[in-house]
Amino acid sequence: MSQKSFCTFIAKTTRDKIENALLPFLSQTVEHDQVIDLQDIFSRLSFDMSCILSFGTDPGSLSMDLPVVPFARAVDDTSAALFSRLSSPAALWKLLKLLGIGQEKNLAKARVVGDRFIIEAIEKRKQEMNEGKHICPDMLSSYLSDEDVPNSNEFLRDNLDSFLTAGRDTTSSGLCWFFWALSQNKQTEEKILSELRSARHTITPKGLITFDPEELDNLVYFKAAFMESLRLFPPIPHNWKAVLKHDLLPCGFRVTPEMNIIVSIYAMGTMQKIWGEDCLEYKPERWISEKGTLRHEPSYKFMAFNTGPRTCLGKNMALTQMKMIAATMVYNFCFEVVEGHVVEPALSITLKMKNGLRVRIRKRTSI
Ligand code: HEM
Repeated sequence: MSQKSFCTFIAKTTRDKIENALLPFLSQTVEHDQVIDLQDIFSRLSFDMSCILSFGTDPGSLSMDLPVVPFARAVDDTSAALFSRLSSPAALWKLLKLLGIGQEKNLAKARVVGDRFIIEAIEKRKQEMNEGKHICPDMLSSYLSDEDVPNSNEFLRDNLDSFLTAGRDTTSSGLCWFFWALSQNKQTEEKILSELRSARHTITPKGLITFDPEELDNLVYFKAAFMESLRLFPPIPHNWKAVLKHDLLPCGFRVTPEMNIIVSIYAMGTMQKIWGEDCLEYKPERWISEKGTLRHEPSYKFMAFNTGPRTCLGKNMALTQMKMIAATMVYNFCFEVVEGHVVEPALSITLKMKNGLRVRIRKRTSI
């Protein structure tokens, strides 16, 4: 994932989606003075981007008419069923599975839809490679060109599925809470705008402004604003681990097989002991050192991307995508959360908003 060709592909995919799907959709929304749910828009955008990066197929879920895409629905149903398995006694979901009812019924159906979609993409790609056609440098191509990677459809399907699941809801959650934080902290938005004004940009044929990753790399305050929203609203709020064998934790607690350990990344992000008295405030400045550079916080303190051997492999990819999307949106448009809209977390594996994020958009005129 850190190969140069893949990083270039990430930037190109994100730029294409911003220019050809996100900007036209937002411009249309402004024209019709519509209220939209930003959470839904980000979820569609990151789903399309994840599918292109995984196996080169764009399901087009972020189109003008916001279509229902069965594969996207299947991914949502799977996530809801897995959360329900995690949060109820094992005997209950096993019984539901046996009877083929409830969330387990949805899960079984979702699996058929999801497997079919991914397997079709794998078979198409294998055929294209056999025919010597030009192929895009996505995850699937990189697996198929590596002789050490098994190339059975099942192995590839499971890997691509985890790649897709790991990247989709996390990136969209990160973006959604970032925009919520900005809506509550207008000075931060102003400071980001002033930094963006100093960055080189590209003008699209429709006269809108976009940014490439290299142009955003030097913007310290912008990155600090993202880290701060990831601290307060980590897209994966809880990290679950199952105990394999008897052990003694450093704190003196004995764990036994079949116990679960849940680390609340969400709670850690707002602990006074860890972040100080102003731990509940959204304050990008805490990430900026006296020299004006981005302050490094150890991963066992800032755990949004996990720590240790299972650290997130997509951290750089996610930050690249989120910054490109947010910079373009903030520079070209103003967002206002609809009055009376209640923002609260939903019960799910990723930190979603229960009621979405309903906003009204205007074109930004004073830049
Ligand atoms: C804001 C966005 C993201 C956040 C906050 C995030 C966070 C995390 C966290 C907390 C874990 C540890 C999960 C666990 O062990 O239980 C993880 C693992 C992982 N993430 Fe991310 N992630 C993000 C985006 C992505 C993206 C875009 C990708 C790439 C498609 C990705 C790929 C992975 C993979 C492959 C793992 C498993 C690593 C392993 O177990 O060895 N993530 N991520």
